[in-house]
Amino acid sequence: MEVGGIQALRRWRARQSGKVGLVPTMGALHSGHQALMTRARAESDLVVTSIFVNPLQFGADEDFVQYPRPFAADLEKCEEAGVDFVFAPALGEMYPSAPEVRVRAGRMGAVFEGEARPGHFDGVLTVVAKLFNLIAPDVTVFGLKDIQQFCLVKRMIADLDFDIEIIGLPVVRDGDGLAMSSRNEYLTGADRNRALAIPRALEAAAEVAAEVPSGGGGGPAAVEAAARAVLDSAAERGDLEVIYLSLVDSADLRPCGPDFRGSALLLVSATVGGTHLIDNLPLEF
Ligand code: PAF
Repeated sequence: MEVGGIQALRRWRARQSGKVGLVPTMGALHSGHQALMTRARAESDLVVTSIFVNPLQFGADEDFVQYPRPFAADLEKCEEAGVDFVFAPALGEMYPSAPEVRVRAGRMGAVFEGEARPGHFDGVLTVVAKLFNLIAPDVTVFGLKDIQQFCLVKRMIADLDFDIEIIGLPVVRDGDGLAMSSRNEYLTGADRNRALAIPRALEAAAEVAAEVPSGGGGGPAAVEAAARAVLDSAAERGDLEVIYLSLVDSADLRPCGPDFRGSALLLVSATVGGTHLIDNLPLEF
């Protein structure tokens, strides 16, 4: 496994002829990331993982400085997952100065996480476009936990004509049901228990969705209400603060009407002890 910044990557890339798979990350790797790398390995001859904490996607009051950076442990996880090249550029290499020209995420980037974190998705898409240009992958693998990010990267690939296949892997959960996230490291034991209301809300929604008669109306509202009841009681206990809960059309992230038919996503975001968590559930109506 090679590790390097832009010059080393360019030299390595010029020597390769096989199909290249990219897993972009900000480090603090966990088994969810390793699952992405394993999938990239299965889809390509060579796997590149990028580790770069991208300042453009953090708000001024967010955790860019304290974001975990366990680089040595990350490299071990990449090695275990069979990564060929770890692209770990220095901040000054990626952004010698603040970029004047950026990718704009548009309407789909201004709702949900984008509303809670203005400019976040412009920052994500700008760095992902740079990674695509630098690494020139044939395929890229993203986790579906950050579902809005996945939808936007997919849309950028289409809108900006990147010749890259994107694969989304389902949310990877710990044994207690909490979606794996690098930010789970911020949770104390008590916070972690409080956070479990999020997967419980999604389970409640899934149970109701399974009972909705096919072709019958009212399903979307009942499903959303089931999840809301769980989150509202957790919020009343002071366990968490709900930022949003919404059932949306997976094609465009617009809210599902009462008679919606098709593929939907139940999106949830909450803060627990100051830690911002997101999760989602795909549903068919
Ligand atoms: O999902 C992430 O870790 C980041 O948003 C990404 C895609 C690596 C861009 O910085």
